[in-house]
Amino acid sequence: MPRLLIVFHSRTGAARQMAEAAARGAGAEAEVRLLPAEAAGPEDLLDAQGYLFAAPENLASLSGPMKDFFDRCYYPVLDRLNGRPYALLIAAGSDGTGAARQAARIATGWRLRAVAEPLILCTQGADRRGDPGGEGAGRGGAAPLRGTGRGAGSRAGARHLLSARRSGFRCPPPYRVR
Ligand SMILES: Cc1cc2nc3c(=O)[nH]c(=O)nc-3n(C[C@H](O)[C@H](O)[C@H](O)COP(=O)(O)O)c2cc1C
Repeated sequence: MPRLLIVFHSRTGAARQMAEAAARGAGAEAEVRLLPAEAAGPEDLLDAQGYLFAAPENLASLSGPMKDFFDRCYYPVLDRLNGRPYALLIAAGSDGTGAARQAARIATGWRLRAVAEPLILCTQGADRRGDPGGEGAGRGGAAPLRGTGRGAGSRAGARHLLSARRSGFRCPPPYRVR
């Protein structure tokens, strides 16, 4: 049975719920390990055959602990994961493309193979206190999503899924290590 590693970080629970739902969804089709980013390391990556990375967007990039996971593991597994499949789950208040782009760039450096476009869950300002990109949150943050379908502009706390392609996400060029 294929071994799927799901690494997640979550401050307020959204990315964790996405990761847990994915673990349930994998069901009997894979041997799933669900690990918080803080507890995951290079050996966990090497031991798995496929990956799901789930994290929130914070300040237009990956949340700190998720970025730290990639930082810690980057060189120890470089050139040892080539061609393995992966996908991304991003929880975001209103955008998510910055985190998705950053994670995809890292995965490209590892020569992982994307098997799905990044899936962004927009919480649409449900947690406005910490969301600089949220509706009405002022200058400098990520652009709020508009007209993205169900949930856009509805009551606070409404959630909808947004595929990264619909949000204008573009896969970054390969990250070159010199
Ligand atoms: C410090 C901080 C920064 C954030 N920055 C962004 C951002 O740049 N773009 C965005 O869409 N959402 C941003 N958010 C909102 C979170 O991405 C959103 O609430 C997400 O659902 C949180 O996921 P979690 O519950 O897994 O932590 C930010 C939240 C916090 C706390």
